[in-house]
Amino acid sequence: DVIDVRTLGSHGVFTYDPGFMSTGSCESAITYIDGDAGVLLHRGYKIADLAQHSDYLETCYLLLYGELPTAEQKAEFVVTVKNHTMVSESMQKFLDGFRNDAHPMAVMVGLVGAMSAFYQDHMDITDPKHREIAAFRLISKMPTLAAMCYKYSKGQPTMYPRNDLSYAENFLHMMFATPCEEYKVNPVFAKAMDRIFILHADHEQNASTSTVRLAGSSGANPFACIAAGITTLWGPAHGGANEAVLTMLEEIGDESNIDEFIAKAKDKNDPFRLMGFGHRVYKNFDPRAKVMRETCDQVLAELGQSDDPMLKIAKRLEQIALEDPYFVERKLYPNVDFYSGIIMKAIGIPTSMFTVIFAMSRTVGWISHWNEMIGGAYKIGRPRQLYVGHTEREYPTDK
Ligand code: ACO
Repeated sequence: DVIDVRTLGSHGVFTYDPGFMSTGSCESAITYIDGDAGVLLHRGYKIADLAQHSDYLETCYLLLYGELPTAEQKAEFVVTVKNHTMVSESMQKFLDGFRNDAHPMAVMVGLVGAMSAFYQDHMDITDPKHREIAAFRLISKMPTLAAMCYKYSKGQPTMYPRNDLSYAENFLHMMFATPCEEYKVNPVFAKAMDRIFILHADHEQNASTSTVRLAGSSGANPFACIAAGITTLWGPAHGGANEAVLTMLEEIGDESNIDEFIAKAKDKNDPFRLMGFGHRVYKNFDPRAKVMRETCDQVLAELGQSDDPMLKIAKRLEQIALEDPYFVERKLYPNVDFYSGIIMKAIGIPTSMFTVIFAMSRTVGWISHWNEMIGGAYKIGRPRQLYVGHTEREYPTDK
């Protein structure tokens, strides 16, 4: 049942809903989720179909414009995205100001927020063409910025984007090539990366997307709004989970320690949770996890790494979660981040970059929601509170 708060008056009744479990904040035509049935649709298309038949840039087009592109529209979109992949050289100088051991998410918050200083033209958010250019700039430049962060942390020179490569291939090239050595992109890895991008492209009103909408509702510029989304995504209960999965697997270290960690996860006096398990919305299974699991198997087969000790621990945890009554009763299934972390580790991507890659993929979702909101009727977001502090009291003038 839905209560429309517009019927309740501005000062009288309000809902108290910590975590916004039952509060709808907007209307949206972008993504549909039925958590109980394990359904995720983008503009009506099943996520598994997009993962199988589409590619990331086509999915971006779908999210932004509402329909799948024709062949000509797709070709034009790809060229436009490629035309925006370079970033201002001054952004490199800005990057140089960071410590090179900074977490790349911290650097990404800075770089993306700073895009509003480097790209000041086409910033009239009431003009749909300007909003479209902001979307192109973000989708195109996020991989360049992400790879720049990684190279900087390694003390290596930035690799410029290569427009003869696909979106996923170009990202892997900027991450792993050096001026001395070309990086031959493995097509299985590129396909897996593209799938990771598709599966993370949007997920309706999650914490980071809601943050982007809330920031945007004040009229803030799109780059500032996306930077706000990145900060929210960073947390381990959201996008930081894929990094937390790998940290946890390393901490478990050996199959013989699994029971101890499972006991910790079940102990209500211990804050430890099994990272990569459970989801706020999917209480049966995460349809993205199914696709990611298959992709994970493909990448590991390609590498011949199925015997990796970390992966053995992961597979055992997966099995326990599917059998142990604690996990079964609470419907705590492996989520998409459980598998994406393992794939990225296998490809050679360092753990600290995992959440950055999530942010890159989700940028299209964020900007589509921002655009949908700004293009329609909206109000500044202003949640209510249940005040539990002091009532009015006298200031002690004799203190
Ligand atoms: N390990 C152990 N127990 C868990 C876990 C877990 N990963 N997740 C939930 N539980 C338990 C809770 O302790 C609680 O038990 P109780 O009923 O006995 O008190 C019950 O399951 C329900 O948990 P909630 O916290 O109410 O579930 P909620 O829907 O609020 O949380 C969340 C979902 C945040 C994802 C949670 O499952 C979690 O912390 N998982 C680990 C982090 C993670 O993988 N996050 C990624 C989410 S996917 C994404 O962002 C793309």
